[in-house]
Amino acid sequence: MDDDVAKTWADARNKIDRLRDGALVKIEALGKSDDLEKTRIEFLGKKSYIMGLIKLLGRLSAEERPEAGAKLNAIRTEIEVAIETKKKWLQHVEQDQMLQNENFDISLPSRLLGKGHFHPVAEVMDDLIEIFVELGFMVEEGPEVETDEFNFKMLNFPDDHPARDMQDTFYIGNGTRLMRTHTSPVQIHAMKKYQPPMSVIAPGRVYRCDSDVTHSPVFHQLEGFYIDKNVNFGHLKGTLELFVRHLYGDGVEVRFRPSFFPFTEPSAEIDISCVLCHGGGCRVCKETGWLEILGAGMIDPNVLSVMDINPEKWTGFAFGLGIERIAMLKYGIDDIRLLYENNIGFLQQF
Ligand code: PHE
Repeated sequence: MDDDVAKTWADARNKIDRLRDGALVKIEALGKSDDLEKTRIEFLGKKSYIMGLIKLLGRLSAEERPEAGAKLNAIRTEIEVAIETKKKWLQHVEQDQMLQNENFDISLPSRLLGKGHFHPVAEVMDDLIEIFVELGFMVEEGPEVETDEFNFKMLNFPDDHPARDMQDTFYIGNGTRLMRTHTSPVQIHAMKKYQPPMSVIAPGRVYRCDSDVTHSPVFHQLEGFYIDKNVNFGHLKGTLELFVRHLYGDGVEVRFRPSFFPFTEPSAEIDISCVLCHGGGCRVCKETGWLEILGAGMIDPNVLSVMDINPEKWTGFAFGLGIERIAMLKYGIDDIRLLYENNIGFLQQF
């Protein structure tokens, strides 16, 4: 070890405590506009006195080195911490001043948080399901991809029925499969699965090649049917009237019109007095005062027979309604496409 180094260190030992005190005082006194980095370089930069001493450590004697190293490191850390602390403090002061310079109105209402809700179609669907579950119906779901057998054949559709036309039905691949055009095939699935008596509702999506202000290629139906001993048209009427009252209140009139479906006999279409003009005639009811909301009828004995249910013993009624139609009437929506555009401005109204 050379004498020079020993002397430098002996000299430094007396100085560095004072140097550290001086540094801390200086750092403490720094204000917002002063440059912290400059101060750091002054005391801890490559050319600073302390770093010079640290470089010298390797040349100190083995006895002196540990103590010197520990001391210098402690001082370096102390100065570093002081600078960091000061830096944070100055940032706080700066933020405080910014806040004081701005005008805040703490009484201003906050921006509304985006709160989600159900789509009107889902809302109406849930409503209807609840009504029928209360009446004792159970919920069944069938597949949306069907076969001709379930969608048409077992429901007594003749081979040349126009609904089987490509114009109405979405066929898949080579035509053995199709997108169900109504929820009535769930009647067949349920008759396969359960023995009568049964009362079932089947909500779900259905598909048809059709698109304008009142038709969408995808829409929703709710199917309902009841098979038991001695079920007659009066039960169908009573059930549907109850349902309509539940939905639209006592002021609404209900009318049954003769109609035709291959899987019901007799069949009916059910109208209610227009909920918008109350029967006076308007654009929505096409000046008739009536709105068609349901198809229904007594389950055709042919359908029961095919499903091995003896039509001499069991009878049933069935009905099907379009959910979108009900939602449009409920909310006064005159274009079905609005329900599928996912326009937030439109949906937020519900
Ligand atoms: N499935 C028929 C349709 O989509 C509606 C219906 C269901 C009619 C049940 C009668 C009985 O038009």
